Amino acid sequence: MRNLGNFISASSKAEWIDLSCALISACIEDTLSEEPACYIALSGGNTPKAIFESLIAKEFLSTEQWQKVHFFWVDERLVEQSSDESNYGNALNYLSALPAHFYPMYNAELGEAASLEKYRKDLQQVPQFDQLPEFDLVLLGMGEDGHTASLFPQSPGLKEDKEAVIIHEIPSLQKKRMTLSFPVINQAKEIFIILNGASKIKIMQEILEKQTAYPIERVLDGTNPKTWIYCN
Ligand code: 6PG
Repeated sequence: MRNLGNFISASSKAEWIDLSCALISACIEDTLSEEPACYIALSGGNTPKAIFESLIAKEFLSTEQWQKVHFFWVDERLVEQSSDESNYGNALNYLSALPAHFYPMYNAELGEAASLEKYRKDLQQVPQFDQLPEFDLVLLGMGEDGHTASLFPQSPGLKEDKEAVIIHEIPSLQKKRMTLSFPVINQAKEIFIILNGASKIKIMQEILEKQTAYPIERVLDGTNPKTWIYCN
């Protein structure tokens, strides 16, 4: 059963940013009205930058609320956090202004094995379900090949059904990436899939019409609520 989720189309980039920020802050507020903390996993790439910038520019939440937010990452490149390739580094260019908690996925000084071990330990702070972290919110993007997180076509991680986080080789990039697995993504309490650009909307529309082989299709396996927030 394909659980497609809800679709919200913005008529401009400004509206798309405002909508995304409003939905993210509403999700945090709702969570904090019932729980002592809110656990979010962020995606990287370029798409979320404008949203992060807006999130810190406007008073969506109070200092007290931000202090209860724990930001993790959905995926990461195996680079220094100072690299302009680093999802963590790019996000902190904006989000470090917030009094929230941040858990970087990869540390070049530690290397692959120790970074994995540390992140697996950090993930234990997130409430668990079925011995895997159950995030309150996961923000996903999508690549032009239909990948999400760092779960790319033909990558071994597509089959990962036990570990919460892995490092695997991406055939199309000929590089390794670190990524949460689908079992974690698909048990998040809420997923926002945030897209902009005609080529990504075309893939979304294909997915709407029929079963596809794009990796992001696997997100539809989850019965958890998901919302596509998109603009051309
Ligand atoms: C990454 C991301 C990845 C991203 C897509 C889209 O590390 O690149 O987490 O999954 O969401 O690649 O990237 P853009 O937003 O740059 O198009």
